[in-house]
Amino acid sequence: MDVKLGRVVITGAAGGIGRTVRSGLREESDHLVLVDTEDIEPDGDGETAVKAGVGDRDALREAFGGADAVVHLAGTAEEASLDELIDANVRGTLNVLEAARRAEVPRVVLLSSSRVTGNYPIHHHVFPDEPPRPDGLNGVTRVAEEALGQLYADTFGLQVVALRAGSFGERPTETRHLATWLSPRDCVGFVRAALTAPNVNFVAAYAVSGNARRFWDLSVGESELGYRPADDAARYAGDFPDDDPFWHGGPQGGAAAGAEAILPHLEE
Ligand SMILES: NC(=O)c1ccc[n+]([C@@H]2O[C@H](COP(=O)([O-])OP(=O)(O)OC[C@H]3O[C@@H](n4cnc5c(N)ncnc54)[C@H](O)[C@@H]3O)[C@@H](O)[C@H]2O)c1
Repeated sequence: MDVKLGRVVITGAAGGIGRTVRSGLREESDHLVLVDTEDIEPDGDGETAVKAGVGDRDALREAFGGADAVVHLAGTAEEASLDELIDANVRGTLNVLEAARRAEVPRVVLLSSSRVTGNYPIHHHVFPDEPPRPDGLNGVTRVAEEALGQLYADTFGLQVVALRAGSFGERPTETRHLATWLSPRDCVGFVRAALTAPNVNFVAAYAVSGNARRFWDLSVGESELGYRPADDAARYAGDFPDDDPFWHGGPQGGAAAGAEAILPHLEE
């Protein structure tokens, strides 16, 4: 398929997903604007690097000028204090959405997280429109991030796609990933689909490979974004013991869910 993506801004472009999305979309984009607090070396005339944080609204507005879309990846996947998470995941997202509105960028793709529903039990197959059950404070801020996306879609007509990413990596590295793995190829596939799908107002969809053991429903990604994942963690099943206690029950978020993970951050 011949995809034309135009001028695309990527925030958090120096991170793991950012580097993968950057190289995956490079050929299809007219120009990539790479925003991060880390240094990035632009690769020729087709890229511009902007060293800035998503707390810097003026820098964002300037970086977003003339863009066709923003892929917002700057954020934290770790559990932390609510203050830190609100800055990284909520204020940062609001600044990105507001800069997009002011710069008249039509579409924003938000990298949300499956942590939005990480407290559903492993035997529950979750659809994206089920009530949130965040598995920690990070998940709570992802609920807020998605709500901001919905607000901007409803109020200002911004086209917003929130991708609830599973566990991104070259390959699964723990048994839980047999359900939650998001391969680099599928990550790029979901982002490309989120950038190109027609008739988007607001869409929240899980971004996970087509893992046989997955917890999350993929039908919204297929019907609204037109993407069906290509990879399946099942081919790595032999790397992990069949009788791992994780599969006996408990929250989908695994070790990141539960009191032990949250308590240290409530006591700060
Ligand atoms: N990797 C995963 O499995 C996974 C799963 C679910 C959600 N996510 C989310 O997807 C996004 C990208 O994930 P990743 O794995 O590439 O993360 P990462 O930590 O590898 O990269 C994040 C990048 O964002 C940059 N950054 C952080 N704060 C910033 C700020 N205030 N302004 C500008 N840049 C900033 C960092 O310098 C880094 O380059 C994150 O929001 C993450 O929480 C990731």
